Amino acid sequence: METGTLSFVHQFVAAREAGAPTLLLLHGTGGNEHDLLGLGRALHPGAALLSPRGQVLERGMPRFFRRLAEGVFDQDDLRRRTDDLAAFVDGACAAYQLDARQVIAVGFSNGANIAASLLLRHPSVLAGAVLFHAMVPFEPDRSPDLRGVPVFLGAGRFDQMVAPAQTERLAELLGQAGAAVTLHWEPGGHALSPAEVRAATGWLLEHAPRVRNP
Ligand code: MLT
Repeated sequence: METGTLSFVHQFVAAREAGAPTLLLLHGTGGNEHDLLGLGRALHPGAALLSPRGQVLERGMPRFFRRLAEGVFDQDDLRRRTDDLAAFVDGACAAYQLDARQVIAVGFSNGANIAASLLLRHPSVLAGAVLFHAMVPFEPDRSPDLRGVPVFLGAGRFDQMVAPAQTERLAELLGQAGAAVTLHWEPGGHALSPAEVRAATGWLLEHAPRVRNP
């Protein structure tokens, strides 16, 4: 679906439980708006699912922002696309009558990177985030206020795209901003593992019912 103010092609699935959060599902490079619906359902069976498709095409593969090389991001584009995503979340909350204080991002790889950028650049948009295999999207000039925002970071010790030092730096940046960071390491690489999904499911069970500004 694509509509005027909701400028991203996206899927929306209504919540199955009253008061459940909305999971903002952000796919990896080459994915689309359908990719993470099953993951979202597994992570939180009652949640509403809002799943946009990245608007950048790299050799035909959708992404959420441009990169100059692997791991080297086009910062102007990242800034603009992060603002666009924040506006989309705002618009979707109004259009689908979602509680804007209960949007939790779930991102993988490139999707996790734009979710991290959203946390650092628009700290009031997300009530929490599950970031699978994320990198540092940029070093902020000023630390944002993420007090009370829970963040799950899932990472692989042998991830060839995301060096452990990147994960640790992201955890540090988010922690310095006041986020409550849970860092979960897997013994594998860049792929999402079932154990990681199980860990994130347990984490969500604990953190999702909490509303940031009741
Ligand atoms: C990717 O797979 O998309 C990269 O590792 C992360 C990115 O470019 O954002």
